[in-house]
Amino acid sequence: MKNIGVITSGGDAPGMNAAIRAVVRIAGLKQYNILGFERGWEGLIMNNFQQLSPRSVSGIVEMGGTILHTSRCPEFETREGLEKGARHVESNRLEGLIVIGGEGSFKGALELSRITDVPIAGIPATIDNDVYGTDETIGFDTAVNTAVSEIDKIRDTATSHERLFVVEVMGRKRGFIAAMVGLTTGAEIILVPEVGFKIENIFKMIEENTAKGKRSGIIVAAEGIGDTRKLAGQIERNTGTETRLSILGYAQRGGSPTARSRYLASIFGNRAIEILTGGKGNKIAAIQDGKVVSFDLEESTGNKKPLDTGILTLAGTLAK
Ligand code: F6P
Repeated sequence: MKNIGVITSGGDAPGMNAAIRAVVRIAGLKQYNILGFERGWEGLIMNNFQQLSPRSVSGIVEMGGTILHTSRCPEFETREGLEKGARHVESNRLEGLIVIGGEGSFKGALELSRITDVPIAGIPATIDNDVYGTDETIGFDTAVNTAVSEIDKIRDTATSHERLFVVEVMGRKRGFIAAMVGLTTGAEIILVPEVGFKIENIFKMIEENTAKGKRSGIIVAAEGIGDTRKLAGQIERNTGTETRLSILGYAQRGGSPTARSRYLASIFGNRAIEILTGGKGNKIAAIQDGKVVSFDLEESTGNKKPLDTGILTLAGTLAK
């Protein structure tokens, strides 16, 4: 029996459990033994793991969060932390390590691959969708749908009270959620960290909308654009339109994964085992133009995924 380790790391994402299930079930068919390290890299550093059998992952495909728990682990960014992790890769005779997480987790994986021979397979899972090399990550679709259903409700109260709402969605550094949510809720304005904006232009757009007869509106803002409370205040003072702020927050990270997130989890889980058993480690499972592919781990971590700003332009056109 050969051992493969698996961790979930960084911010959780709906569908991580479905990915664990896929990994464990496919590995089981190939007679691999799966060690699930708990709380991300911390589990590898502390050698804290549970054995996962195909039966132990029953009933988790529909569960949000991660049964392995997760954490952000600054210790793994130090040489000492990495070496502790590497020691436990050796002591457990791991023949492969699967890292389910986002960009930060993959950076840790790359560093580990530099001091051990263990082949690593990454499974992109983050609601932020900011992993280079894959068109989509596990959890993004669920987070978008959660935000959309909340904003549809906010739209009702915005219309009734003839108010503007600034709705802050997640995305500390990136605007993938904001762009998709803004387009699909018909937001009048979308603000993302990737595209700078002048506040005077926002006032102008709102005044134009009012002149056209719009009596309410939604501004979707990624958390990474700055202080959204201040922004709502400035809009109210300068346009004379009553403006409220709604921060959707951590609800976007939870909940039962959508079919799309479960689908990606299943095909990525399968591909991760193929990456390890094919003798070609240090790749991530990815989807490109609808097809599952293996993408170089180092190339993924070394590049910034571009945001399709065409989505913002289209959203602007459709909300006129
Ligand atoms: O998982 C990604 C993300 O949701 C970011 O959009 C957000 O800024 C961040 O995690 C916050 O997570 P935490 O508070 O767990 O560090």
